[in-house]
Amino acid sequence: MCGIFAYLNYLTPKSRQEVLDLLVTGLKRLEYRGYDSTGVAIDSPDNKNIVMVKRTGKVKVLEEAIQEHFSGGEYSKPVLTHVGIAHTRWATHGVPCERNSHPHRSDDGNGFVVVHNGIITNYNDVKTFLAKRGYEFESDTDTEVFAKLVHHLWKTHPTYSFRELVEQAILQVEGAFAIAVKSKYFPGECVASRRSSPLLVGIKTKTRLATDHIPILYGKDIRPHGQSRELPVLPRSESTSEFMPLEEKEVEYFFASDASAVIEHTNRVIYLEDDDVAAVRDGTLSIHRLKKSLDDPHAREITTLKMEIQQIMKGNYDYFMQKEIFEQPDSVVNTMRGRVRFDGNAIVLGGIKDYIPEIKRCRRLMLIGCGTSYHSAVATRQLLEELTELPVMVELASDFLDRNTPIFRDDVCFFISQSGETADTLMALRYCKQRGALIVGITNTVGSSICRESHCGVHINAGPEIGVASTKAYTSQFISLVMFALVMSEDRLSLQQRRLEILQALSNLADQIRAVLQLDSKVQELAKDLYQHKSLLIMGRGYNFATCLEGALKVKELTYMHSEGIMAGELKHGPLALVDDSMPVLMIVLRDPVYVKCMNALQQVTSRKGCPIIICEEGDEETKAFSSRHLEIPRTVDCLQGILTVIPMQLLSYHIAVLRGCDVDCPRNLAKSVTVE
Ligand code: AGP
Repeated sequence: MCGIFAYLNYLTPKSRQEVLDLLVTGLKRLEYRGYDSTGVAIDSPDNKNIVMVKRTGKVKVLEEAIQEHFSGGEYSKPVLTHVGIAHTRWATHGVPCERNSHPHRSDDGNGFVVVHNGIITNYNDVKTFLAKRGYEFESDTDTEVFAKLVHHLWKTHPTYSFRELVEQAILQVEGAFAIAVKSKYFPGECVASRRSSPLLVGIKTKTRLATDHIPILYGKDIRPHGQSRELPVLPRSESTSEFMPLEEKEVEYFFASDASAVIEHTNRVIYLEDDDVAAVRDGTLSIHRLKKSLDDPHAREITTLKMEIQQIMKGNYDYFMQKEIFEQPDSVVNTMRGRVRFDGNAIVLGGIKDYIPEIKRCRRLMLIGCGTSYHSAVATRQLLEELTELPVMVELASDFLDRNTPIFRDDVCFFISQSGETADTLMALRYCKQRGALIVGITNTVGSSICRESHCGVHINAGPEIGVASTKAYTSQFISLVMFALVMSEDRLSLQQRRLEILQALSNLADQIRAVLQLDSKVQELAKDLYQHKSLLIMGRGYNFATCLEGALKVKELTYMHSEGIMAGELKHGPLALVDDSMPVLMIVLRDPVYVKCMNALQQVTSRKGCPIIICEEGDEETKAFSSRHLEIPRTVDCLQGILTVIPMQLLSYHIAVLRGCDVDCPRNLAKSVTVE
C-alpha cells in the first residue's frame, strides 16, 4: 500500500518542471497502490531549500496544483543534477488530508524529507524519545518520526554521511517499510531502503551499463535492528563510500515501489532486498547491507525487465479493469505458453519440476492466500484432491496465522498472490518456511518478495494487473494450479482419461472465453436491473462455489453494494430466509455432477417468489425455463467451468460500478498491494 517514486538525474540536465512531470507520471503508474492523498518534494529554484506540494485526493489533483503553481519561469530552467521524491498514500496512521500526506519533513526548514510505505510499529517510542528532545510533530503519521529521527542523528553526528544517518535511523525503527529520503544538506543525493515492503531502483544510462551487478557493502559491527530503544548510535560503518560500485558519468536513477513506474524510462532494475540501503552520491549507486547473513550474495543483480509499456497503458478501454477482463483470452494462453504441449499431452512447469518427487511424497498440500488469490485455491481444491490424491487444505493467510496452524517438514505450502507482496501471505510464508515446509510461490510479479522467498514456484504470466480488482490474475492462478494438478497425475494410469479431457478443454479455453466476453452487452442490461439495489446474493456449489465467492467480492469492492457468495447446499440452513420477490439473486446451474442439487436450490428459490438470474450452459432449455433472465456459457469440462462462469461476474460488477458512478480502478478504501498486516 502506498506508492513511492523518486527520481535522480546526474549530469543529465532537466528542468524542475520536467522533474515534476516525471514524478507525477510515476505516481500515476503507482496510484493503484493507494490514492487518498499525494505529494512531491523537489529543490527550490535557488537550490537552498526543498519545496513540497501535497494534496488530498488522487494524483490528478496534485498535477493540477503543480501546473498552477510550479510551471514556467525558474521552474523551466535546466538543472544538471537534482533529486525529487514523490508519494501516493493509502492511509494507515491518520486520516487522508494534506497534513498527513507525504513527504514528511524533519523540521520547519525541510532539512530532511521522507516518503514511506508500510508501518513503523515502534513509532510511539521513537516519538516520545524525540519529543523529549524538543521535536514537535505536525502530522498523525508514523512516517514523520523517521524524518525527525534522521534530523536528530544529523545534529548529534554532524560528520556522518547521508547514507550513514539513514542507516542509523533504520536500525532504530521496527515494522515493515520502504523509504526514500532527500535532504537539503546533501544535495544531489538520495537514500532508500526497504524491509518487507517492495522497492526497486531503475538505472538509465546513455550507453550500456559496464556491469550487471552492484557489489554489496557491509558496515562493520552492525547489529540487528530494534535492539535498543534508547537510540544509542552504533559504531560507524566502515564500508567505504569511496568504493564506486556503479560509476557512470551521466545517469538517471528511479526508485519505485514497482516496475510499472519505471518501465517507460528504463528496463534495467535492481530489486532491493530487506535491509538493503541504496544510496546515490555523485551519481554513483552503492548498496549496503544492514545485517550480514551467511547466505547473502556478494552483489545485487541488475535485472532486465520483460514488461512492455503498452502493457501498463489503458489503450482504447475506459478502465484498466475492463481492459484486463478483455485480455483474458490472451492471458490464459500466456499462462500455458511453453508449459502445455497439446500435441504430446505433456506439461512441464520449469519452476517446480525438480521438486515434483518431493511434493509427491508430502503429507498434505496447503494453499494459502488472501481475497481473490484465496478464491483461486478454493476453485481448484477439488481437482487437486482428485489428481494428486493428497489432502488439500485451503487457508486465508490472516486466519492461518491467527490460529498458529501446525505445520510440518513434510508439508508443501503454496502461497498464491498476484502482487507477491501481500503482507499476510508473506508472513504466512515465513511462518511455514521456519517450520521446514517446502514453499511454492504462485505469483504474477517477477522479483516480488513471495517469489524470492519461495523454494520454487510458478509465474502465472498474466501480465501487469493495474485495476485494484483482480480479474485476469484469478483465471491465470486457476490455470496454474490446474497445470500443477496435471503434472502431479502424469504417471497415474487410472487418471489418463481425465487428464486428456482437461487438456482438451484447456486447448479450447481461449475461444470459449472470447465467446463469454460476447455476453458483455447482455450483462450490461442485467446491470441496469441491479444497480439500484442494495444487495446481490450469488449461489452455486461444487466447482462453481469459488465463482460465487469471487463474484461477491468483485461486487462488494467495486460497487459498494452488499453481496454474498452462498454455497447452494447451505441455502436451507439459513440464507433462504433472505429470499423474496425483491431480493436480487444470481444462480450458477451447470450440467455437472451437482446439477440436480443445484436445480433443487433453484426450485427452493423460485418457490419463494425469487426470480434469479441464471448462469447456465448454452442451449440448456430445462434450466432456462426457470427464469427469463439468463446468461448462457459454452460447455467445458466440470473443473474448468469456474473460469467461464467468473467472467460474467467480473463484467457484471464492472457495469454495476460504472452505473453507480464508482471509481472502477480505484475503489474506495482499498489498494492493490496490501503490504500491511
Ligand atoms: C481482489 O479483487 C482484491 N483486490 C484482493 O482481494 C486481492 O486479491 C488480495 O488483496 C490479495 O492480493 P494478492 O493476490 O496480490 O496477494
